[in-house]
Order: sequence, then C-alpha cells, then structure tokens
Amino acid sequence: MKITVIGSGYVGVVAGACLASLGHEVICADSDSEKIGLLASGKLPIFEEGLEPLLKKALADGRIRFTNELDWSIGQSDILYITVGTPSRSDGEADLTALWSVVNVNRIAHSARGRKLLVVKSTVPVGTCDSVEQLLRDHAARCRIVDVVHNPEFLRQGSAVPDFLRPDRIVVGCNTEEARLAMKELHAGIPASIQYCDRRSAELIKYASNAFLAMKISFVNMIANLSDKLDIDVDEVAEGIGSDRRIGPLFLQSGIGYGGSCFPKDMKALQTLGQSVGCELPLIDAAERVNAAQPHVILDKLKSALSTLRGARIALLGLAFKSMTDDIREAPSLVVSRLLAAEGAILNAYDPMVRRYPIREVAVHDDMYLAIRACDAIVLLTEWDEFRLLDWRKVRETVRAGLIVDGRNMLALDGMKAVAEAYGLTYLSVGRPAVVNVAIGPADPGTFNRLSARL
Ligand code: UDX
Repeated sequence: MKITVIGSGYVGVVAGACLASLGHEVICADSDSEKIGLLASGKLPIFEEGLEPLLKKALADGRIRFTNELDWSIGQSDILYITVGTPSRSDGEADLTALWSVVNVNRIAHSARGRKLLVVKSTVPVGTCDSVEQLLRDHAARCRIVDVVHNPEFLRQGSAVPDFLRPDRIVVGCNTEEARLAMKELHAGIPASIQYCDRRSAELIKYASNAFLAMKISFVNMIANLSDKLDIDVDEVAEGIGSDRRIGPLFLQSGIGYGGSCFPKDMKALQTLGQSVGCELPLIDAAERVNAAQPHVILDKLKSALSTLRGARIALLGLAFKSMTDDIREAPSLVVSRLLAAEGAILNAYDPMVRRYPIREVAVHDDMYLAIRACDAIVLLTEWDEFRLLDWRKVRETVRAGLIVDGRNMLALDGMKAVAEAYGLTYLSVGRPAVVNVAIGPADPGTFNRLSARL
C-alpha cells in the first residue's frame, strides 16, 4: 500500500521504516529540511536501536522516500499517517498546533483526489479525531475525504522497532468498515491482534495505558519509601507482588521515578482532560506527587551520608531519562542535578550517550573515570549496562570517598555487599537496606567520615 507519513520525528520515522519493511511504499514528510536531508541519506537525528539498518534497507529497496514538500506528499498516497508531536502546553493541555497545521483544509483539499484514510497516530485528547473529521466534512465539497482513524502508538524508546513490529496489541479506533479493512491490510505482516473500537475509546486507551504504567512505577516507589523506613528490600516485595499474574512483574522497578517525553506529558494531559469535564482523577495526582518526590529521596540520602553537600564532589552516572536513549526530556537526572547544584555540590557527570546537558553546574565528561575522579559520592541516575560492569578496584582508586547512591536500584544487593566489603565502599539504594562499609578514608575529613556515624 502507498502511505504518506507526515511528521518525521521519532514516531514517524519508526513507523515509516517499519511499514516499509512490511512491504509498503512509504513517503515520510516533514517541514524541517535539514532533518529530511539527513534521513534521506540514511542517517538518524536520534538514536534508536535497530532503526538505522531498517531505514538503510528501506532506502536501498526504494520503499521509503523523504520530502519536505508536504502538499505534494499528501497527493501521493491514499493513506496519510499523522505522526506530529503533541507536547504539553504550559497549562498541561496537549498542544495541537502541529496537528492542525497538517489537517488544514486547503492543504488536504489541494491534494485530495480520491477517498483517503487519515490515520492519527499522534497522542491526542479525546474528541480530537471527531473534530478532525468534522472539519473535513464541513468542507466536503473540497475534500473528498476521509475516514479518520485513531491508531495510538505504544512504542518505547530503545525498543521501538520490535514494539512496532511485534506489539502486544494494535488499537484501531474507527467508524467505518472501509477504514477497518484498510487498517487490517496495513498491519497484515504483524503477528498481533487488532482491537477495533470507538475512536474516542482509542484516544483514551493511549492516555490510560501510559497513566497506568506511570501509576505502577509510583506505586512501587511508594512501597520503596515505606521499605526504607522498615529496613525491608523492596525488590523482594516487587518480586512477590509481580509474580501474581493479575499484577505482573513489569514496571515495578523502583528508583528516582519516571521521566521521558510521554509519561509526564500524558499524565498532565489526562488531568486537564478530567478537569475539563469536571471529573476528579485522584490516582493521577497521587502518582505525580510520588514521582515528584523521588529525586528528594536521593538528595536526602546524600545529605545524611555526607552531612553537607556544600563543596561535596558528586559524580552523576547517567543523565538520559532511561538507558538505550540519548533523550534527556523530563529526565529525573535534571531534577537531581538542580537540587544538588542548589545545595552547592560540585557536579561532574558521564553518560554513554548524552554529551550536551542544559544545567550549567554539571560538567559532562566523555570518560567515566574522569567524571568520578576525586569524588565524594557516585550517584547512579540511568540504568546503563556499563554501570553494572564497573571495575570497582579502579573506582576505589579514583574516588576520594567511597559512597555509591544507586537511584535506579540497578546493582544487585548481594553483589554490592561483597564489593563494599572488598573495596571499603558504602552502597545506598532506594527502598533497600544500606550496605555500609567505610574502610577507605576521605581525603577531606569534613565530609565522608561522618557517614559511618550517621548510618
Ligand atoms: C512510554 C510507554 O512505555 C510507551 O508505551 C509509550 O508509547 C511512550 O511512553 P518511554 O517513555 O519510551 O515509553 O519509556 P518507558 O520504558 O515506558 O519508561 C518511562 C520512564 O519510566 C523512564 O524514565 C524509566 O526509567 C521509568 N521506569 C520504567 C521506572 O522508573 N521503572 C520501571 O519499572 C519502568
């Protein structure tokens, strides 16, 4: 089938390359010519595991093209995918400016020759697809359009390609049989069941899915904070509850909380949606409050271990909002960094993928051991695999004092007991018992030596 994907951002490029790999003929359009130039040469403006080879293959096979001529691209296909961004406005509502600029009567009318299928993949508030359809109907004489479909994406950064090609489910909100058949044919190569439903339900499914996952994380973080007070290992609790199939083991990893371009934005949008219809959503509020508090848990641990953060040298390992991405949007590291900078800490950082960081006080190094040199504490903020393989002897020789605070609970507690004992380190995490072993002395007696007294 011939498909035009409008909006060559993260979702658009993943969708375009994956649809091409299924044998469709795809045109990806975007108003950003620089981005289009890059993509046309097979390069990605973002990092996503497995996407570049897929894109290169689709280019080589002639199944994908890139253009900045939006109007032309709309005229080329009968299936239009809309994958433009819908970021948060300052009032929390989704900003639909990019969507409305595409669903522009003149634009669609100009190039609409036959019946078209308009697939909205962007995350949009409930009722948006109805408004899109209404607008096009109002101009039916000029736009011989259109079946409007909502087909939310559930891609995770870092695993977007398998998430697209082998999803748990595909949700299609549509109102006509033609649209239903076309969507079935489009997804023919994907081994997943398709849930057909009302368009407004599909719009809510996207927000509700993200909110549920965010709530799961906040729930386990709440239990982690309780475990901290009770000297219990939250990982054991998470394993115990997660092995009940009704609960499930995923998204129960405790730590500094969730970030990224979706959860925080979608939680805000859901809240404003609730407000707009006079419906309270107390669980959403609570999940957001727990999440906002998690970076303070790290700050409090550092403060009580080091007595003061003024002048303390802190090494931040990991800046991205999660591993396998260079994305720092709404990354919990930003909050932790700001809090530490406000306390007067000296901040050095390393992330395998992030080189530029918007906080002036954070010096980003491209070598991990430079970042931890002579530090009083190492704080793990992203669960990169390379941090699981740290050379602890080298760490010990490099740091000034051996405090490790694991904001992702990514290192095994038993393993860290042995490491702490062997190298005289102290290891603190979130909702798990502290491993205290202060054998190496501080170069600066004003800081780390208070640790043993405090814990
Ligand atoms: C999310 C949804 O998973 C995806 O379906 C949707 O399409 C877009 O939003 P993404 O933002 O890429 O995807 O990342 P995800 O893997 O869901 O993680 C989000 C945040 O939660 C990250 O900061 C991650 O570190 C955190 N997280 C995740 C936890 O703190 N604990 C967990 O158990 C899982």
